[in-house]
Amino acid sequence: MEKNSATETRKKQHISICLEKSIESDIKTGFNDLFFVHKALPEVDMSDIDTACSFLGKKITAPILIEAITGGTKEAEKINKNLAAAAEELGLAMGVGSQRAAITDKKLQETYNIRPVAPTIPLIGNLGAVQFSKGEYTIKDAKEVIKQINADALAIHLNALQEAAQPEGDLDFKNALDSIKKICADLGKPVIVKETGAGISREIALMLEKSGVAVIDVAGLGGTSFSLVESYRDKDKPAIGNTFKNWGIPTAVSVAETRKTTKLPIIASGGIRTGTDAAKAICLGADYAGLALPLLEAATKSKNDVKKVLERIIKELKTTMFLIGAKNIDELKKKDIVITGKTREWLLERGIDTKEYANRETLESLRTTVKTAMYH
Ligand SMILES: Cc1cc2nc3c(=O)[nH]c(=O)nc-3n(C[C@H](O)[C@H](O)[C@H](O)COP(=O)(O)O)c2cc1C
Repeated sequence: MEKNSATETRKKQHISICLEKSIESDIKTGFNDLFFVHKALPEVDMSDIDTACSFLGKKITAPILIEAITGGTKEAEKINKNLAAAAEELGLAMGVGSQRAAITDKKLQETYNIRPVAPTIPLIGNLGAVQFSKGEYTIKDAKEVIKQINADALAIHLNALQEAAQPEGDLDFKNALDSIKKICADLGKPVIVKETGAGISREIALMLEKSGVAVIDVAGLGGTSFSLVESYRDKDKPAIGNTFKNWGIPTAVSVAETRKTTKLPIIASGGIRTGTDAAKAICLGADYAGLALPLLEAATKSKNDVKKVLERIIKELKTTMFLIGAKNIDELKKKDIVITGKTREWLLERGIDTKEYANRETLESLRTTVKTAMYH
C-alpha cells in the first residue's frame, strides 16, 4: 500500500498544478459542433422553466453536479466544505475526491467529512478501480468510505491514462471489471463508474451496465487533462503525459456513444464550461452534467464564490431552455440538435445516425398528426 505522505504530496501538487498551469486538452469536447435550433417563438415564460429532477432518489434543483475533486489535505478540507455548503444551498449533488488518503490514515477522514454542511444533498464517495484490481482495497474499504461520509453512492474512477502518465502510476488494470462487478453485488449502495477525462465508449458502457453499475459518468476529453497534469510532475522531459494530453473520446461523442448502448443514467463531464454545454449534453442523451475545474479556484476562496459559478451555469442552462422552448428537463431531452463537424464525422463512422437528433420535433409532430388523423 502506498504511504500516506506520498498520496498527500501528490494531492497537493494536483491542486496547485490545476490552479497555476494550463491543464486543459487542445482537442475540445465537441459541444461547439452542436447547435440547437433557435425558436423565434419559444411559447414559454422564462419564469415557468423548471430545471428540477431527481438523482440517487433525491430531488435536486438542476441536473448539475459537482465532480470529484479532492480530499486528504488541510486545503482540500476547505475546498470540500466550500463546495458542499454551496451545493447544499443550491440543492445540487456533489462528489468528493478519491478517499484513498482516508483509508490509509483515519485522521484524514475529517477532510472529506462534508455531511454536516450538506445534510440533504446526494453525496458521492470516490475510490479508484485500479486499487481494487491490484488488491489494495477490499469491499470492506468501499463500505467504510461510504460510511465515513454517509454517502448515497460510491464512484469508482477509471484513470488508466492518468496512471500511465504518472511517474509512480499503478498499471495493473487486469481485474478491474471483475472488481467492479463484485462491488456492485456487495456494496448495498449504487455504484457510479466514472472516467477522469478520457471518456467512455459504447462498448465499455455496455460492459459496465452488465456488471451492475447504476450510473455512468463519461468524464470525456475536452476539459481537465490529467495526462497534462501529470506531465508537470514528471521529471523526465519531454514528459509522456504531454504526448497523451489529447488522448481520449471527446465528451459530446462519449455521451452519444454511451447512450446508444445503455439506458442507465449518464453524467456528462469533462469540459462542461457553460450551462449551454450542459443543455447540449442532456439533449444528446445525458441526464446530468458535472464540472470540476471551473469550481476549483472559487472553492479555495469561499462558499459564495462557488455559488456564483454554479448560479451562472444554471442561468445559462435556463436561458438555453427558454430559447428552444423547453419548459423542463424532459422536454429538453426531446429537442432538435444539429450535429456538425468532427463530432458528426466520428458518430457517422461509428454507425450513429446524426440526422435523428436534428429532426426529433418534426418526427414527433408527424407522429402526432398521423395519430390525430387516425381518430378523425
Ligand atoms: C484538481 C482535480 C482533482 C481531481 N481528483 C479526482 C479524484 O480524486 N477522483 C476522481 O474520480 N476524479 C477526480 N478529478 C476528475 C474530475 O472529477 C472530472 O472527472 C474531470 O476533471 C473532468 O471535468 P472538468 O473538465 O470539469 O475538470 C479531479 C479533477 C480535478 C480538476
